Amino acid sequence: MRHNGRIFRLARSMPPAYTQRWDTPPQRGALIWKGSYMAIAKPATRPANPRFSSGPCAKPPVFKLENLADAPLGRSHRAAVGKAKLKAAIEETRELLGVPADYRIGIVPASDTGAVEMAMWSLLGARKATMVAWESFGAGWVTDVVKQLKIDAEVKTADYGKIVDMTTVDYNTDVVFTWNGTTSGVRMPNGDAIPVDREGLTICDATSAAFAQDLPWDKLDVTTFSWQKVLGGEAAHGMLILSPRAVERLESYTPAWPLPKIFRMTKGGKLIEGIFVGETINTPSMLAVEDYLQALDWARSVGGFKGLMARADANAKAVWDFCDANDWIANLADDPATQSNTSVCLKFTDNRITDGAVFAKAVAKRLEAEGVALDIGAYRDAPAGLRIWCGGTVETADIQAMLPWLDWAFHAEIEALAQAA
Ligand SMILES: Cc1ncc(COP(=O)(O)O)c(C=O)c1O
Repeated sequence: MRHNGRIFRLARSMPPAYTQRWDTPPQRGALIWKGSYMAIAKPATRPANPRFSSGPCAKPPVFKLENLADAPLGRSHRAAVGKAKLKAAIEETRELLGVPADYRIGIVPASDTGAVEMAMWSLLGARKATMVAWESFGAGWVTDVVKQLKIDAEVKTADYGKIVDMTTVDYNTDVVFTWNGTTSGVRMPNGDAIPVDREGLTICDATSAAFAQDLPWDKLDVTTFSWQKVLGGEAAHGMLILSPRAVERLESYTPAWPLPKIFRMTKGGKLIEGIFVGETINTPSMLAVEDYLQALDWARSVGGFKGLMARADANAKAVWDFCDANDWIANLADDPATQSNTSVCLKFTDNRITDGAVFAKAVAKRLEAEGVALDIGAYRDAPAGLRIWCGGTVETADIQAMLPWLDWAFHAEIEALAQAA
């Protein structure tokens, strides 16, 4: 591997997380002729923060470990100080997301996956289900329901880049879907297809949508997300938001299967209300809670939900504009109305590329080696390409500084292909 030496040197010289910023080496003009082939000069500017991972996502720009000093470490989460922090995390989430007062919000184990599984295992089976998926996480929930819970379900799927027509869904069944497909970059444009007077429950995995996209609470009975996505928190815990109708189902229906303790939200047929004021089922990480509270603080400082959404929109637009300006790259999402403003997924469209997966990996590797874009390879089950996280913790200036590097890496790889031919 001809670049190995350079890659390792650069990797070793990378700064520790969230301490220092890269210096920008001076660069010369756009093209350099080297012997018989053309090399593209490296861009002059580097992103100050090259973290564009789709999870865990970049920490808020103001993040410092010292900011977590107020975490009640070594104290019981059941002590007044711990309970107060957990309650604040719930109340501030409600305020920032505009969750209605009669919806319950709980902090549950095992990140977003924990929250989705808890909802599906506790609520499904009372009526027929409809499982809707347009990428790998949604497909995972289909597997759970069809193969593990073995529930009578209609399965509706769309290929990567497309979305299921949500007007074709029967909302008198319980419907499970993912608002923003993190691995395809396809999102629900809105909740218009979901009737307010439905009989079934809607269970929505909104982990890469919450804090970046409008969620219509009257259309959602269960909403889940993890702190590690748009707010750049830690992955330890999931957030589970329940409508009054979801609570009614919990109190009136007992699944046919056994429920492990960490999934149990009722006792004696009544909701365990404590879970929804911060009395978590098992021990939470108070460090992760403190980190989430700090992220919420920062979110307020940039204008709350609207400010976060505007940041994600601006980031995504910078990438979309780049795609419009370059005919060798395109958004994986077919319909502009469904293009994600958080997990922006891209495909290479240049017909000189012989093996799409190898090419995309090589581009991502080049960018990582330069320390200008970390973790932007497409998800392992998704079509070959790149995925650039554009959630609110990412600075637009960093996206703008990274894109010329993407142009550089693309042309460098095309050149390498030509040399190899
Ligand atoms: C749509 C979606 N659902 C679920 C998950 C799993 O989240 P976690 O690992 O936080 O449980 C992810 C993670 O990227 C996701 O994007």
